[in-house]
Amino acid sequence: MHTLLLALVCALILGGISYAGYAASQTSANPRPQFQSQSATSTQSNRPQFERPQESVFEMVASPLHLLALTCSMLVLVLADIEAFAWMRGRKKILELVYMRRLHYGAWAGLLTMITTGVILLTGKTRLWGTPQFTGKMLFVGMLVINGILIGRLMHIATRTPYTEVSRHDRIVLMMSGVASVCGWLGAMAIGFILF
Ligand code: HEM
Repeated sequence: MHTLLLALVCALILGGISYAGYAASQTSANPRPQFQSQSATSTQSNRPQFERPQESVFEMVASPLHLLALTCSMLVLVLADIEAFAWMRGRKKILELVYMRRLHYGAWAGLLTMITTGVILLTGKTRLWGTPQFTGKMLFVGMLVINGILIGRLMHIATRTPYTEVSRHDRIVLMMSGVASVCGWLGAMAIGFILF
């Protein structure tokens, strides 16, 4: 219950920050790539030229890193899912704490790298600031961060108790956390690929 409340508060804060950014971007000049007509003094050609936004070295490095971190995170999540299914089907009575902790930290490293590289990418993409798709993406990322904290606690159920002995309440919480994780990653990914 507390986690749900915390999720709601964080979602509201993230939404508020993003809306404030949107409002600010509406009032200030929001540079977008624009067609630039050649001036009368130009001697080259009269064709309109596309003004290319300059990319910093950081952005150039951050872009492939953003996708590399995504791929590594997906790999870690698949490994964690394999363990979780083995536990649920009874093929493994309990899960190994050291291995599960490694996977958990691996997923955190992936998510934090995504956030860091995302922030670097964002500095050069002012057109995205405060847009609904960016707000949506940040809500998904916020959800993943909160779920990551929750999973840190839930992990211990699987490392101590066989699935058949887990209470109905804990099973539901575990299932909800799994659904939140899938929705969060899929949502952030879909917005990144489709809408950005
Ligand atoms: C779970 C977390 C995230 C996932 C799964 C994700 C996924 C993606 C994907 C798939 C792309 C498209 C890459 C491409 O087409 O080359 C992308 C681009 C981008 N992401 Fe993320 N991202 C995440 C977190 C973040 C965060 C936290 C930020 C910012 C704070 C961010 C900002 C951006 C920006 C600015 C772009 C480039 C958009 C463009 O090139 O027009 N991302 N992301």
